Amino acid sequence: MTSLDVLAGTARAGTLYGIGVGPGDVRYLTLRAAGLVRAVDVVAFFAKKGLQGNARRIVAPLMTGAQTEARLEYPVTEEVPADSADYRHQIGTFYRETAERLASLLRQGKSVGLLAEGDPFFYGSFMHMWRRLASDFPVEVVPGVTGMSGCWTRAQTPITWGDDMLAVLPGTLGEHQLIERLRLTDAAVIMKVGRNLAKVRRAVEQAGLLSRAIYVERVVPLADCTDSRGAYFGMVLIPGEGRRI
Ligand SMILES: C[S@@+](CC[C@H](N)C(=O)[O-])C[C@H]1O[C@@H](n2cnc3c(N)ncnc32)[C@H](O)[C@@H]1O
Repeated sequence: MTSLDVLAGTARAGTLYGIGVGPGDVRYLTLRAAGLVRAVDVVAFFAKKGLQGNARRIVAPLMTGAQTEARLEYPVTEEVPADSADYRHQIGTFYRETAERLASLLRQGKSVGLLAEGDPFFYGSFMHMWRRLASDFPVEVVPGVTGMSGCWTRAQTPITWGDDMLAVLPGTLGEHQLIERLRLTDAAVIMKVGRNLAKVRRAVEQAGLLSRAIYVERVVPLADCTDSRGAYFGMVLIPGEGRRI
């Protein structure tokens, strides 16, 4: 394989690609992901109502104009609680209809690249399509740099040392559950902070970890962050303090 072959993307007809596009900058895509974005017939991406879609924004420099775009717009996101029957119904219907839409493209022989922020198999909507389509169509999943590694890199903070245990916790957990899990771990990443920021902050404080916790949206100590709500992409990092040689 020559150096030019490495950069060229090839996509097979009728194949679904889950393309990890990393944490936010097109330069953090793998070569395979970048090649595929250019090579597939259809670039599909999830987006919130009225927004461009973060994954689509990340790959903008790779769009050639030759790809067709399939915008998959969520009917709801944060405005309805994720554990409500209404949310499950609306999102369940949306995922079923979206999988049918993608299946129809695949049956026509199109290669479809479904973009995923970060890594496709890490809390990704892509997984809901993969679950519905992988037994009927060929699928290739291209890993991506996760949002959390983007965050600890941006915060210039190593997350685990020596034998540190790392817990990855969704901020949607109940306060008590968060405290319990935090007490058992050496290092933690708390995702999906958004509207849960105040609760997450209280849980981190109760677990005795506030002095070490960093809120990454602006990269500030969590202790200085008194807002009740954070950004959807906000994340809390609690670096481990394990063996340093
Ligand atoms: C549905 S999950 C998607 C995770 C994604 N697949 C990944 O590999 O990071 C969404 C949560 O991931 C985190 N996240 C995803 N991308 C991020 C980014 N670029 N910067 C910061 N946090 C991110 C945020 O906590 C957000 O609430």
